[in-house]
Amino acid sequence: DWDMHNFTEASIKEIKEKVGDKTVLCALSGGVDSSVAAVMVHEAIGDQLTCIFVDHGLLRKDEGDQVEKLFKEKFHMKLIRVNAQERFLGKLKGVTDPETKRKIIGEEFIRVFEEESNKLGKMDYLVQGTVYPDVIESGTDTASVIKSHHNVGGLPEDIEFSLIEPLRQLFKDEVRKVGEELGIPEEVVWRQPFPGPGLAIRVLGEITEDKLHIVRESDAILRDEIRKANLHREIWQYFTALPNIKSVGVMGDERTYSHTVALRAVTSSDGMTSDWARIPYEVLEKISNRIVNEVDNVNRIVYDITSKPPSTIEWE
Ligand code: XMP
Repeated sequence: DWDMHNFTEASIKEIKEKVGDKTVLCALSGGVDSSVAAVMVHEAIGDQLTCIFVDHGLLRKDEGDQVEKLFKEKFHMKLIRVNAQERFLGKLKGVTDPETKRKIIGEEFIRVFEEESNKLGKMDYLVQGTVYPDVIESGTDTASVIKSHHNVGGLPEDIEFSLIEPLRQLFKDEVRKVGEELGIPEEVVWRQPFPGPGLAIRVLGEITEDKLHIVRESDAILRDEIRKANLHREIWQYFTALPNIKSVGVMGDERTYSHTVALRAVTSSDGMTSDWARIPYEVLEKISNRIVNEVDNVNRIVYDITSKPPSTIEWE
């Protein structure tokens, strides 16, 4: 795409001139926007950029390692991975209310990020993956918007940084094209949306390691089968949730009393409204069989067939 090629080149040049010999900090989540913004800035200024990646322990299977590997090994970026799993789980212990979970995770994220950035001393600029829809949503295109709405990457207003927001003029599909220009792999550029609070809002009610394990493993199976069926570009979001229901089943001649896993897969164009994806029965069958066979403590799988509205995409 020639336009995006030119845009990318021009932006890199602009960033280089703007930053000069100053230093830049980035909160990397591994999502499309922050990844594209970070790689672009890195192209411009190399090791003057430091990225902080907070692993809150609520990521999908292998995700933390994949993010670390990509940015360190492929792009040779200065990346600090903060393994804060225990901290987050500790704060979330006993918490069942969805909004309280979000609030705790958002606040803890900021605290961890601040602590790490303080260790680096004074940094001059902060990279944000703000895209055009965020600018519109904020109701202004002049103020430097810090994404806090819906986004765990929201940073405190009192951190003093000048912002670099190379994607401010772009829509999502353009961000993806810029990502391709920059050589970011397909699975990152075409990544499905993933909420900042991560698996915390997919384990309904209280979060425990055991429940996270069930969601993480079942979700990995679902994603694997959706990809094999070549449905991953058609479906907007697909994941599993743990409704916190136990029910009776039978295995051999024993009765079981185990968890139910819910499959959620939706089509959408912007996440505001959605419909449930008409996944072929054979694919659903495969997913169901694999989850009950491969994930301990699960004896029932249900498929969520509600649209948004009246449901939401997530279960919390
Ligand atoms: P709902 O569940 O409201 O989700 O239909 C719409 C879109 O937003 C994502 N989502 C979130 N993203 N922090 C985020 O960064 C959140 O707290 C959050 N809650 C929902 C959801 O995955 C879907 O793409």
